[in-house]
Amino acid sequence: MSQATLILIKPDGLKKSLTGNILTRLSETKLEIVAAKISRVSKELAEEHYRHLKDKPFFGEIIRYLRGELHDRHKVMALIYWGEDAIVKCRKLAGATNPEEADSTSIRGSYGRITTTGVYENVIHVSANESDAEREIKLWFEPEEIIVNLYPTKDVVCKEKKIKSWA
Ligand code: PPS
Repeated sequence: MSQATLILIKPDGLKKSLTGNILTRLSETKLEIVAAKISRVSKELAEEHYRHLKDKPFFGEIIRYLRGELHDRHKVMALIYWGEDAIVKCRKLAGATNPEEADSTSIRGSYGRITTTGVYENVIHVSANESDAEREIKLWFEPEEIIVNLYPTKDVVCKEKKIKSWA
């Protein structure tokens, strides 16, 4: 079954120059990249991304982490991988969420760590299931940034919207 998954290479991955290694590892899946960008992460975006964790004691810290405040890298690389069983394939290569429990050959097992305050710095986010993937993809990407039609869209006229254009 064809699926899409959101992948985020988090600020620690960018700071440690791991983008190439991570993309090489993910290419083992033979999945297609259908969207990719470097994004700044607003507080609102980070809080919405992790909204199901807002009551956890580490919530504040993971927001700061995703926003790059712990690594002086105020950006993430966001990608959408698409193809047969994309979620399970990407999650297997990523390894367990807890980097100490992740297979040592996985991305998180190779490059992740737990901070002294107990927060997982696990380098990469992968959507957990199809409904999370849809919610997260719609949060991080506009339809026109994705080269395939993943979800239904509608045409809207935005006359009031101010956008930047080349001068
Ligand atoms: S849950 O509650 O198990 O469904 O949470 P999950 O969807 O696995 O996501 C948990 C995210 O929080 C990050 N994080 C931690 N989780 C648990 N314990 C600690 N200490 C912790 N620190 C950070 C974890 O990495 C998950 O984020 P992602 O981006 O998916 O890795």
